[in-house]
Order: sequence, then C-alpha cells, then structure tokens
Amino acid sequence: MSEVYQIAIDGPSGSGKSTLAKGVSAKLGIMYLDTGAMYRTCGLCALKRGISPRDVDAVKKMLDTMELKVEFKDGSQHMILDGEDVTGFIRTPEVSIAASDISALPCVRKAMVDMQRDIASSQTFVLDGRDIGSNVLPNAKYKFFLTASAETRAERRLKELNEKGDFSQNYEEVLRDIKYRDKQDSERASAPLVKVDDAIEIDTSVIGIDETRDLLLSYIKE
Ligand code: DC
Repeated sequence: MSEVYQIAIDGPSGSGKSTLAKGVSAKLGIMYLDTGAMYRTCGLCALKRGISPRDVDAVKKMLDTMELKVEFKDGSQHMILDGEDVTGFIRTPEVSIAASDISALPCVRKAMVDMQRDIASSQTFVLDGRDIGSNVLPNAKYKFFLTASAETRAERRLKELNEKGDFSQNYEEVLRDIKYRDKQDSERASAPLVKVDDAIEIDTSVIGIDETRDLLLSYIKE
C-alpha cells in the first residue's frame, strides 16, 4: 500500500489556496479538502436560522442540532447541511463574513477540526485553510503558507464573484471585506492564521498562480 500523507496549504482569503490545492490534487491524483467550505457552511446555517454568528450560546445550540456532512462526488467536494446540498450558496459576500465571524468561536473550531482530522486520516489529502499546518495537522508532510497583498487578493476575489454573475460588490467593498476578515482571522484567540516555522512561504502576487503550482509540485516531488 502506498504511503498516506498530507499537504497543508494555509493563507489569507484570496491568496490562491483553493486554486493551488485543486491544481496539486489533480496533478498528484490525491483528494482535496477545502476546510473553509466547512466554516462557510456553519456561517450559512447561522444566517438561515437567524442566529448571530458571534453569539456563543446560540451557536452552541445550533451545533447540537445542525447536521453537516462533507461528501466527495465526481471529484468535487459537496457541503450537505441538514440534508440539503448547499455547495452553491456558500460563496456570497454575506456568508464570507458570517464564516469569518463564526470560525472565531472555539466550539465551532473544535467540531470542524475533529471532522477534518477524521476525513484526512485514512487517505492522502491536500487541505487548505488557515490553521492546517499549525493546528489541524501539525505533522503534515508538506506545509505551504501563501501570501499576497490585500489589493491583489481583492482584485482576484472581485473577478471570481463577477465570473459567477455576482455584481453585488465593487472593488472598494471587496477590499474592505478582505481586510475585515484578515484582521479577524489573524487576531482571533483560537488557532489564528499564522505561518509556522516549517512552512514554505510563497508570495503569489509576485509569481502568479500557475508558477506557484509548479513550485509547490517541485517541493513535493523532491
Ligand atoms: O478559505 P475561505 O475564505 O473559504 O474561509 C472562510 C472563513 O473560514 C475564513 O474567513 C476563516 C475561516 N477558516 C478558518 O478559520 N480556518 C480554516 N482552516 C479555514 C477557514
């Protein structure tokens, strides 16, 4: 049997994590787990139930009754919330903010991290997120930390939203949200976004996504 190992890709919103993780997973024929999608689904659940994603007591009760599943179908990840496939509803600007808010709560992080470790325990996976190398899988075989300026990331996010037909925000609003999430994701007390010493740092605004993918693969093949 071939060796089971994990690749951790961490970084702030819009640093190119998911594009790179998808590219690496396709090239190496391994599974990809988007952990941000799990926090997004929790954020969506709070919005659907009319709960503030910052209200610890309400969110704890929500976790007791929420049924969240990660399914892999035809090579892509689907998020199932209370029996409904919500994959198409978790990328809106409103859900992005709710995800950042709710992911600061330790009770939410514990539930998601337990699921992530469980999913990645039996097969080779590339995972992307904020705390994969530092907290979820500190023994991951390969760790990468992506960065890019807030402005570059806002441009990418706006393009992504527009390509999906979402014109609800302009550049300034996207940049404002990116900065809000950066601050919250890196200043929260529980498993904040942080570069660990053994992660390879790559600035994707300098070398671009395709070259970054080839660079990541060159480290993995070494
Ligand atoms: O990567 P993303 O933008 O889809 O993540 C959505 C939010 O989820 C992000 O603002 C912070 C949170 N998150 C986290 O706290 N830890 C992770 N491993 C992944 C995402």
